[in-house]
Amino acid sequence: MSVVCIEFKPGLEGVPATQSSVSYVDGQLGILEYRGLNIKELAKKSSFLETAFLLIWGVLPQKEELESFEDDIRYHRRTKYRIRDMMKCFPETGHPMDALQTSAAALGLFYSRRALDNPEYIRTAVVRLLAKIPTMVAAFQLMRKGNDPVQPKDDLDYAANFLYMLNEKEPDPLAAHIFDVCLTLHAEHTINASTFSAMVTASTLTDPYAVVASAVGTLAGPLHGGANEDVINMLSEIGSVDNVRPYVEKCLETKAKIMGFGHRVYKVKDPRTIILQELAEKLFDKFGWDKYYEIALEMEKVVEEKLGHKGIYSNVDFYSGLVYRKLGIPNDLFTPVFVIARVAGWLAHWKEQLATNRIFRPTQIYEGEHNVSYTPIEER
Ligand code: CMC
Repeated sequence: MSVVCIEFKPGLEGVPATQSSVSYVDGQLGILEYRGLNIKELAKKSSFLETAFLLIWGVLPQKEELESFEDDIRYHRRTKYRIRDMMKCFPETGHPMDALQTSAAALGLFYSRRALDNPEYIRTAVVRLLAKIPTMVAAFQLMRKGNDPVQPKDDLDYAANFLYMLNEKEPDPLAAHIFDVCLTLHAEHTINASTFSAMVTASTLTDPYAVVASAVGTLAGPLHGGANEDVINMLSEIGSVDNVRPYVEKCLETKAKIMGFGHRVYKVKDPRTIILQELAEKLFDKFGWDKYYEIALEMEKVVEEKLGHKGIYSNVDFYSGLVYRKLGIPNDLFTPVFVIARVAGWLAHWKEQLATNRIFRPTQIYEGEHNVSYTPIEER
């Protein structure tokens, strides 16, 4: 029997699984860069679609390139009626992430040609996924309430159109702008669980719809994208500022995770959280206060006091839900909204993976027995 001398790292912590130039995180200094550009600058100066182009093709687009990318996405926003019919049969009690994972995978039924070495195929797949995912998220929301989905509106840009399809009215320009910034902030974050899932699936050379569907399933969990929904549930359960300290103390006593805090890489406050908090305050100034914000501020104070020494601070999921609530997005759509943004990052890694592909096939450390003899069923 061979002797194994490989060190096992649970959760693959610190184990490089790829070489990438898509994005970079410095967890000690709280820096996030997409293709070398700081997230703070992109949040101020770029749009989500320009950022998506940057992530996927590695450079900021020329004016005409961006216009043509935006036009193509606008053109592909509608979904086939069969997709809508399929979605109408989904149970209205089902989680929107499950609906989205199924619908993203179903796109592969309609666009099944696989030409991964053809740049035009890659571009069209990118355009289709970026264009149709928001439409599918909004459609499920309306259909589960028994309504027909709202068709995309061509004169609205990407973020405004999603809010329009969801809330059935054109959004305030500030709300649409803030939503666009949220999408930019969530577009990419190195090799996290869902991106890794996308890359593993991509490495088998399957189609991009299967790549995105597998990543959606991975993002759904509460330790990953699903945390944004749990944060609002937690703030609601806490109910008042006075209950924050006892709640945090109880979590620490019982070793329960406090949602929206902690990160594998960041040991300081996540730079996206700082921007999201500013955006939340802008929304409160214009559209009114949210009592959960006071509870959230107190939570940050108490958690920092208790866990700051371990490098545990608020993460991106802590304030995103407060922003989304003000934009009229229901709690269980927070993670699907995360998908709308993160599709850009997944596709950037998909394209990068294809360029130097080798199928992922890690090893394991076997801890079971050997040469076990078979016991007949009546003797067990
Ligand atoms: N509340 C309380 N203690 C925590 C928390 C938390 N949120 N996060 C980490 N810790 C403690 C943990 O108990 C452990 O303590 P000890 O060393 O004494 O046993 C230590 O910090 C290390 O925690 P870990 O779980 O081993 O860290 P990890 O890198 O495996 O997990 C994490 C990172 C994000 C899964 C974790 O911090 C967590 O579960 N946070 C809550 C869920 C959450 O907010 N998820 C969103 C993550 S950011 C965006 C995204 O990925 O979508």
